[in-house]
Amino acid sequence: MPKLNIAVFVSGRGSNLESIFNQINMGRLNASIVLVISNRSDTPALDMARSNGAKAIHLSPKQFAAESEYELALLNLLQTEKIDLVVLAGYLKKVPVAVVSKYKHKIINIHPALLPAFGGKGLYGHYVHEAVLEFGAKVSGATVHFVDTEYDTGPPIIQECVPVRDDDTAESLAKRILEVEHRILPQAIEYFCNKQITIKGRKVYIKKK
Ligand code: GRF
Repeated sequence: MPKLNIAVFVSGRGSNLESIFNQINMGRLNASIVLVISNRSDTPALDMARSNGAKAIHLSPKQFAAESEYELALLNLLQTEKIDLVVLAGYLKKVPVAVVSKYKHKIINIHPALLPAFGGKGLYGHYVHEAVLEFGAKVSGATVHFVDTEYDTGPPIIQECVPVRDDDTAESLAKRILEVEHRILPQAIEYFCNKQITIKGRKVYIKKK
């Protein structure tokens, strides 16, 4: 099967990006990360991308006078690099509708909770875990899902639970969930690269190897 070209979009520290690079470098994923885009110029993820041989680009909607120019710049980059799959790994901006339409079922996101609970606009990072604790939920987890035009509403590909403990803080819960994220995001990419995924409506089926 041909090797797929991946673009990863990040906003923060990039530990999920690192987990994908690790799997690729260990020969466990038939893919290359050729492009990393961050909406922030100061993230270590851009250096990580460069040192792993990927093109690292700071691209933010703020750099453009109009949303349509930003959309065009993103689309041009994805086309130039012949991107097969876009992975949102801690990316806090909404992907423009034109990009979502063009790359339907080719953009995936990792969310640190069990969607559709504790997702949507404003629920990111520690806010997610604080909301889980405040609600008194007994389980949380992580979701890898396809991206549609809203925040966190696309069809799930993999979901995995973790227990919420009585003495958890947002930090301790985040740490437990991050370990799951670092496993299931590369796993979903592997399913995609091996063409094990079929989608009917909202239901994502994974063919066993
Ligand atoms: C992760 O918890 C991810 O689920 C969420 O943002 C965080 C990013 O962490 N969307 P990192 O930048 O990959 O370390």
